[in-house]
Amino acid sequence: MIRLFVALSFPEEIRRSLAALCAGVPGARWVNPDQFHLTLRFIGEVDGRTARTVSDALATITMPDFDLELFGVGTFGDKRKANSLWVGVRPNAALNRLQEKVDNAVLRSGIAPDRRKFAPHVTLARLNNAPLDRIGAFLSHHALYAGPRTRCDRFTLYSSFLSSSGAIYTPEQVYRLDGGIAEDAEHDWMADEADAWDQDHGDWDKAEAAAYGAE
Ligand code: 2AM
Repeated sequence: MIRLFVALSFPEEIRRSLAALCAGVPGARWVNPDQFHLTLRFIGEVDGRTARTVSDALATITMPDFDLELFGVGTFGDKRKANSLWVGVRPNAALNRLQEKVDNAVLRSGIAPDRRKFAPHVTLARLNNAPLDRIGAFLSHHALYAGPRTRCDRFTLYSSFLSSSGAIYTPEQVYRLDGGIAEDAEHDWMADEADAWDQDHGDWDKAEAAAYGAE
């Protein structure tokens, strides 16, 4: 089994700008700048055959390139117990259209619908009992954060794996919006890599259940 999600990755300039925000909240587990992304659709654990079906469906998506601007900051979770800190996006009809196309492709592949409404964001940090006043200070200090404008011409199918130092996201396939495949997957989708993926999954599931308030 392999844990997958579809996301936008960012050029160096954006990652550097985001990394510069990552300070000032004691106890925050800041995301490694190499791992910043904007999730379009979380897929979850699938077998190799389903991964191939999803990948083929994603490869049919085409639409014009578009610009994206990161803007503002916020938290998810309880008001008194935020569990993540993120940067938002200026309202963007093209981004929403891409998200719908990705969602439709994933649904067509037989994956269950995601009940949550799309809330575009880039997670900066996971929080665990961070001091409320420091979170408040971070939010007001960066309320008007505006990232450099970036051109989106591709999206990525990522795998996610929990290592002892946190989640590792690996680009498995990159799809250009003009319909081309940008980079070949090194991954053999049909191979059953259950053994590798079963490692640490007990902890992974517990950590995620906590982060997402899952049952
Ligand atoms: P997040 O950044 O808000 O945590 C990989 O886990 C990516 O998928 C993360 O960007 C995460 O969003 C997103 N995601 C969305 N729904 C998820 C879920 N139910 N479980 C794990 N990750 C999810």
